[in-house]
Amino acid sequence: MRDQISSICKGVKVIPVVVIDDVEDAVPLARCLVDNGLPVVEVTLRTDAALDAIKAIAKEVKDCIIGVGSIGSPEQLNAAIEAGGHFGVSPGTSPKLLRALEKSDWPFLPGSGSLSEMMGLREAGFTELKLFPAEIVGGVGMLKSVAGPVSDISFCPTGGVKPENAEEYLGLGNVFAIGGTWIAPLQDVKDKKWDVIAARAKAASTLGQG
Ligand code: 3PG
Repeated sequence: MRDQISSICKGVKVIPVVVIDDVEDAVPLARCLVDNGLPVVEVTLRTDAALDAIKAIAKEVKDCIIGVGSIGSPEQLNAAIEAGGHFGVSPGTSPKLLRALEKSDWPFLPGSGSLSEMMGLREAGFTELKLFPAEIVGGVGMLKSVAGPVSDISFCPTGGVKPENAEEYLGLGNVFAIGGTWIAPLQDVKDKKWDVIAARAKAASTLGQG
């Protein structure tokens, strides 16, 4: 039985999505996010450094819950598990990826952007999904509309989610968390702006509490 992402994340409401270009930045970035109230981090497989970054965080920042994002193939799925990620995330879900997922019980948050995808993923046993790109596929209105037809599915919307609309998303009954790159954008990571990232993380950690 696959563990649910919300239980792995222990009720954390905000998941920073990060792109790491230089493996040297991985540990300081994860440390900064965890120490400022965001213990769950999604490291995307969008750079050559990503897998080594995940390995470094898994080794050095033991209190970080690592999601591996942008998984698009069975090969990436296996690499993410081997690197030490605690769960996987995909932007959408292809038939090949779904077949690989069916053979594994590694916790996974598959991406959806339409009601048909939601229903297909539910048939495959997933009741927690990423909604991506949230703002483009209908955002808060979309989530309100699907709350009736797929009332047993809970979402983590990402893509265009930011402080200005975060509370609106987190106020929905079918949203268990939100994610986004606004907390630690690539350029700030490259510039090692840990103080700026720390302040954004601290602010983000208070979202969805009231
Ligand atoms: C993701 O992979 O979830 C997105 O890149 C996050 O989207 P954002 O950059 O709009 O926050």
